[in-house]
Amino acid sequence: MLIRTPRASDEKEFAVTPRKLYQQRRQFMKQCAAGAAWATAGWLLPSESSASLIPSNPKRSPYSTTEEWTDKQAATHYNNFYELGYGKTDPSRRAHMLITEPWTVTVEGHCEKPGTYSVEDLIRSEEIEERIYRLRCVEAWSMVIPWLGVSLGSVLKRLQPTSQARYVAFQTIMDPENLPGQRRDVLDWPYVEGLRIDEAMHPLTLLTVGMYGKVLPNQNGAPIRIVVPWKYGFKSIKSIVRIRFVEEQPPTAWNRATPHEYGFYSNVNPTVRHPRWSQRRERRIGEFGKRPTLMFNGYEEEVASLYAGMDLSKYF
Ligand code: MTE
Repeated sequence: MLIRTPRASDEKEFAVTPRKLYQQRRQFMKQCAAGAAWATAGWLLPSESSASLIPSNPKRSPYSTTEEWTDKQAATHYNNFYELGYGKTDPSRRAHMLITEPWTVTVEGHCEKPGTYSVEDLIRSEEIEERIYRLRCVEAWSMVIPWLGVSLGSVLKRLQPTSQARYVAFQTIMDPENLPGQRRDVLDWPYVEGLRIDEAMHPLTLLTVGMYGKVLPNQNGAPIRIVVPWKYGFKSIKSIVRIRFVEEQPPTAWNRATPHEYGFYSNVNPTVRHPRWSQRRERRIGEFGKRPTLMFNGYEEEVASLYAGMDLSKYF
């Protein structure tokens, strides 16, 4: 990603290598051993209400990939969550700064059931399933994560969007007093994202409350986030407080920041390069060497029809 006021330390994060990651992990292990509770605060202080939602034996979704999971420690300690800082280790280190209790999601715009909902109002425990998805970051690294969630479409349907709802806009918590990243003018806060209504309703789009069998740690977007597996990771907005059904294409945080680099669609597409680097290959965290990036992150069969007839180099 690009920030408007880059620092030398941010730059290094773009060129991450497995060796560097392992070094960071070792450092964290040492910190944990030394009793630095903040290093794992996200796991120690899970959102109580979401925790009660997590089924002990969730059903495995047929949409799951059979690829090997990324190590949990890596997936929870190598994050982009700019509200908590701009380095990859800031989010886990500062996870406790995200206050997730109480939490409500405001639903508004073109729907029959606007209102303020708790996470439990939106998600039914018995519907939660485990979805093992690849997450491909625009920075050309990827992970495989067992998420716990429900199809966003099933939740949106209960909110009864009207025919005017052509897009769905999402917003992350705004809390600059507690979230250090929001005290710097790096993005136009709060973080916002959007999907076309058919993308939002697609069965692969997941409204997520957990990972690795447990409630989401704060650094991964507690208590509720979306995961859109065929799009670059930044479309998967974390810690959602607002869902709005709208008629016009909504603004998105990264498109607002650098429109020539990040379009609204942001589908994983190896043939459309990022202006500053290729998207043809990716490094799977925990592996040495690179593997080819797949069109729509490997979900081409399921989602290509959503974009039939669109010039994907124009609608990137
Ligand atoms: N959501 C918010 N609110 N703030 C962010 O900075 N970063 C995005 C996305 N969602 C981000 C966000 C990016 S760039 C990525 S790669 C994914 O979250 C990372 O998700 P993960 O930490 O669960 O791997």
